[in-house]
Amino acid sequence: MAEYKRILVTAALPYANGPVHIGHMAGVYVPADIYVRYQRAQKRDIKFVCGSDEHGVPITIRAMKEGVTPQQVVDKYHAIIKESFAQMNISFDIYSRTSNKVHHETAADFFKKLYDDGLFEEKESEQFYDEKAKVFLADRYIVGTCPVCGNPNAYGDQCERCGSSLSPEMLINPRSTLSDAVPVKRKTKHWYFPLQNYEAWLKQWILEDHKEWKNNVYGQCKSWLDNGLQPRAMTRDSNWGIKVPLPDAEGKVLYVWFDAPIGYISATKELTDQWADYWCKEDTKLVHFIGKDNIVFHCIIFPAMLKAHKDFVLPDNVPANEFLNIEGEKVSTSRNWAVWVNEYVKDFPGCEDVLRYVLCSNAPETKDNDFTWKDFQEKNNSELVSIFGNFVNRTFVLMHKLCGGKVPSLHEDILDESDKRLIEEIQGARDKVQGSIEEYKFRDALFEVIDLARKGNKYLQEKEPWKKVASNQSPVTSDQKLIDNCLHLCLQLTANLAILINPFLPATSKKMLHMMKVVDKILDWENAGKLKLLSVGYSLRAPELLFRKIEDAEIAAQVEKLKSGLVASNQSPVTINQQPASEQPAIKSTIQYDDFAKLDLRTGTILSAEKVEKADKLLKLEIDLGFEKRTIVSGIALHFKPEEIIGKQVVVVANLAPRKMRGIESNGMILMAEDSSGKLHFVNPDNMINPGAPVT
Ligand code: MF3
Ligand code: ZN
Repeated sequence: MAEYKRILVTAALPYANGPVHIGHMAGVYVPADIYVRYQRAQKRDIKFVCGSDEHGVPITIRAMKEGVTPQQVVDKYHAIIKESFAQMNISFDIYSRTSNKVHHETAADFFKKLYDDGLFEEKESEQFYDEKAKVFLADRYIVGTCPVCGNPNAYGDQCERCGSSLSPEMLINPRSTLSDAVPVKRKTKHWYFPLQNYEAWLKQWILEDHKEWKNNVYGQCKSWLDNGLQPRAMTRDSNWGIKVPLPDAEGKVLYVWFDAPIGYISATKELTDQWADYWCKEDTKLVHFIGKDNIVFHCIIFPAMLKAHKDFVLPDNVPANEFLNIEGEKVSTSRNWAVWVNEYVKDFPGCEDVLRYVLCSNAPETKDNDFTWKDFQEKNNSELVSIFGNFVNRTFVLMHKLCGGKVPSLHEDILDESDKRLIEEIQGARDKVQGSIEEYKFRDALFEVIDLARKGNKYLQEKEPWKKVASNQSPVTSDQKLIDNCLHLCLQLTANLAILINPFLPATSKKMLHMMKVVDKILDWENAGKLKLLSVGYSLRAPELLFRKIEDAEIAAQVEKLKSGLVASNQSPVTINQQPASEQPAIKSTIQYDDFAKLDLRTGTILSAEKVEKADKLLKLEIDLGFEKRTIVSGIALHFKPEEIIGKQVVVVANLAPRKMRGIESNGMILMAEDSSGKLHFVNPDNMINPGAPVT
């Protein structure tokens, strides 16, 4: 492990085209904030930067639909998002935005440097263009009738009704979502970054030198690298974004995924004149907190850009989380299946820490996880209220009742086994919590803190100081000595809990400081494990309620709100305007067994595969079904090279009516699974079996 002098933590810049929801919080911002607060308590030199991601196609489309300017869209959401973060106590050192001047300059300079070093490839290609709206159309903004199921509102990249992966060429009666115009192909020039040139280096850097990265991150990187990297266009045709800083680049802007991560650099520049220390000195530890849909950009593309630029450090770790589902279903912003942070803070004022608690203890650290309101209530009532809050409250109440409101003495001569055990627990907790936080295992770390409070409760229960006779006469009675020892230790434990819980639940920790009448300084991490944090004879305030019970009615109201807010999934594409790529289509309506039985699914083996002329996405496949050979045209050309898939087994819908595509008759369809990054995978038997075998 290298020695670091300073730490720079970044949290993914949220798109300023909608508010943030609890999935964002659980995946990125709560863990990042815990990490940063812990490092600050360790007195390490650390900066925490973030900001709004204000470019990209979805923002321009949203603006067009609402009849406002893109700047108005981002102004609105930037303010809402920034406010939500502040309310949740996410302690950024700066929350910037990519429409800022310094960002435009920084990103343009970055591009120019790579350009001047001759690193881009200039290429012309044909893309769909809307002659009415006068813009190039991303596949997602072309709709038409699905060739597979007849859905009249299928997207140019996918049909949300039947799940088929499509290309705009495959749509029947294609039209632009912006103007209804029929898209036409147009030549356009772009600058491509040759990622393939960095493949060997990336393999070494990630697969060999960063084996400690989380499995989900390492695995995704490995699969991208194993599949081979391609040149990637770093510019787009648009007038919203950062102008390509070259003469002769009218109407071209930087690709949003080129500019956004550079936003981390610009935000640091805006924050401090010492920004270059954080970005250019090798002894900086750079950590990117992101969600899993951002892995390729932060682990492969951005590092390759940084490497190419040469001036900057590379990330030490990218602790990406998986997704948080809600009540068993994927979050969908377009269907409004989400719990929005700005609404939560209105519905549960003063309960920001409860949400932080539930999201951390249930964080999707290794796999997708589920948020349910029932579980939220349960965790609040039986962990925060009954364990943590209850321990602190009992300690304070008893101290006031039995020790005159002051920190009692510790009579070391009469410490018994259970006192000694508690002392050991207090001393040992810090290493456990710290070890887990340093390894980005925030759930485990939080569990340790709650476990320490649980042990405090158990200790109080064993000691039963309320059963002893308190007396304030001297000499001190033996009963009073026992009371003193018990409450002295419980108070020192309380002070320790304030330190340990601080990264997770900062508002709760503040309340505890107030009750103990001590200053922030006590929260320095080096104090964790100490037993003399509160001095004997010091008088403390009355207890405050740390957490309140959450009632069934409140939970029922939230569940109702979620369900009644649901927008029908089959809405016209015109109203869908948020990052669709990371979402799953809604589940289709129920069918009877008979409907299913109409499908004739068979295994087949791919005998040959070739590209279809003038159709980027189509492959013509020859498939052996045992009893016959079939020609099937499939929209998988962007995902597989023809030579890679020969010999693969597939599952074929064998009784699908034939259809002509690009003049070729396609007889059936092959089943594919699409992962969250949009990559396709074959669905096939786990062992090679004879072609033609029915799949039932
Ligand atoms: N806006 C992107 C998203 O929400 C994240 C951008 S992260 C950055 O998925 F690195 F590009 F800034
Ligand atoms: Zn369809």
